[in-house]
Amino acid sequence: MPTLLRLDSSYGDDATSVSRALTSAFTRAWLVGGPDRAAVEHDLRTDPVPPPGHGALHWAGTLRAPDVVVPADVESAHTRVLDELLAADALVIGAPLYNYGLSATLKAWLDHVHVPGVTAPFGGDEPRPLRGRPAVVVTTRGTAHDDDSEADGRDHALPVLRLILGDALGMGVRVVTVDRTLSVTVPAFADERERFEQRFAAATAELEELAAGI
Ligand SMILES: Cc1cc2nc3c(=O)[nH]c(=O)nc-3n(C[C@H](O)[C@H](O)[C@H](O)COP(=O)(O)O)c2cc1C
Repeated sequence: MPTLLRLDSSYGDDATSVSRALTSAFTRAWLVGGPDRAAVEHDLRTDPVPPPGHGALHWAGTLRAPDVVVPADVESAHTRVLDELLAADALVIGAPLYNYGLSATLKAWLDHVHVPGVTAPFGGDEPRPLRGRPAVVVTTRGTAHDDDSEADGRDHALPVLRLILGDALGMGVRVVTVDRTLSVTVPAFADERERFEQRFAAATAELEELAAGI
């Protein structure tokens, strides 16, 4: 059964979060795109993944020093996160920009899933089990990040997601971005509202088209 993993990392709830509205639109479109499809929804706000409880979890068992002992409960918490991703045929992530970087919850999740020797190669010919699987990143940003805007170049979240999901894990990363989300809630940005609304509608259409092609 083709399975989509929908991962949300907004600190906001369904009523206010722009990224949740977009990952939800993607998921709905993906589910109607083929028979027997299923979606696993993991909300890192209500069901956060703790950061890896041991540095050795970053490495495949075969790459760890022989005397390293990882407590069984710490190892199994890590394995649960990995298995959820490995079981997914496609991934959609809601990834808002927080203080120029990833949400703390999404960073913790990434720290689990990048494992040289398991999900990423380590110098040899290890298979990359996630290679080629689609990973759609929906990023929302409160202000404008257009070329030459004040915030141009200050998104340090997207490069990390591209590096880990794309370069390391080999997934097919597609990014859909919506800026100016604060125009809805912060009066000082209200004059940007129309541009936000236009971009939101276009991003929804882009995501529905992407979902139909996966
Ligand atoms: C703690 C915090 C830090 C933020 N930092 C930034 C930032 O660095 N750059 C930016 O453009 N927006 C920033 N924002 C605004 C969020 O990116 C914006 O509200 C976004 O829409 C949140 O995603 P959501 O709508 O899915 O909840 C920040 C918001 C919060 C709560």
